[in-house]
Amino acid sequence: MKTITSITEMQQWSQAARSAGKVISLVPTMGFLHEGHVSLMRDGKKRGDVLVISIFVNPTQFGLGEDYEEYPRDLRGDSEKSLEAGVDIIFAPSVAEMYPSGYQTYVNVEKVTQNLCGFSRPTHFRGVTTVVAKLFNIVQPHVAIFGEKDYQQLIAIRQMGKDLDFGIDIVGAPIVREKDGLAMSSRNKYLSIEERKAALCLNGALRRAKELSKNGEVNAQKLIEEAAKIINAEPLTEIDYIKICNPETIEDIKTIKDKAVMALAVKIGKTRLIDNQIL
Ligand code: PAJ
Repeated sequence: MKTITSITEMQQWSQAARSAGKVISLVPTMGFLHEGHVSLMRDGKKRGDVLVISIFVNPTQFGLGEDYEEYPRDLRGDSEKSLEAGVDIIFAPSVAEMYPSGYQTYVNVEKVTQNLCGFSRPTHFRGVTTVVAKLFNIVQPHVAIFGEKDYQQLIAIRQMGKDLDFGIDIVGAPIVREKDGLAMSSRNKYLSIEERKAALCLNGALRRAKELSKNGEVNAQKLIEEAAKIINAEPLTEIDYIKICNPETIEDIKTIKDKAVMALAVKIGKTRLIDNQIL
């Protein structure tokens, strides 16, 4: 396993791999790796001959006053986990390498980024799609794997891939949870013991909605209210949003006729957590 920090070196490596007929898989991350990331790597390993992961805490996807500075970083721990998972290359550029002074180009996916996290964090997805577009041009993968944990992100990247003709297979991978149901996230590190307990209500609310929906409830407002009750029963929580959307367009749904996704964002103390569930 090798760590590359230079864009030119990464591009040269990828061009050589492509010339040798290798299929390149890419798993983009912001590091502080956990089992969720590792599951994406395993998937990537299966789908390609060589596996590249990127570790880059991308400043452009954090809004003013968000946790860019505090975001947990542990390159040494990440290297150990990556080695174990069979990663061939860690691409870990600096901010100056990715955004040199004078940088001024952004990629914006317009519609599927309007609702949910796009509404609460207006500049977030522009930062995500910009850095992912750059990573695609740098690593030149054949396939890239993204987690369904960040459902709207996956849809936005798929849309970008299609609209900008990247020709990269964008694969979605299932949410990995702790034994008690909490979706794994690098941000779980911020939670105190009490907050960690309270955070279980996110999955609890989604499961309740799933159960009601299975039993025939099609009224989205009703499902949202039931989910909100479970979250509001935890005094440490503050709901940012709970919504039921069309899983492809990310538009709100009133009555569930076909597939739908329930997505929520909840603040527990200072930590904002997201989770979702296909209904
Ligand atoms: P990060 O939060 O580090 O997540 C990297 C990838 O891991 C994303 O595709 C995310 O959906 C996936 N992931 C995180 N937690 C997961 C879980 N519990 N189960 C399954 N997959 C999970 O998402 C980002 O970084 C950034 O926005 C990035 C795409 C790297 C662009 O900067």
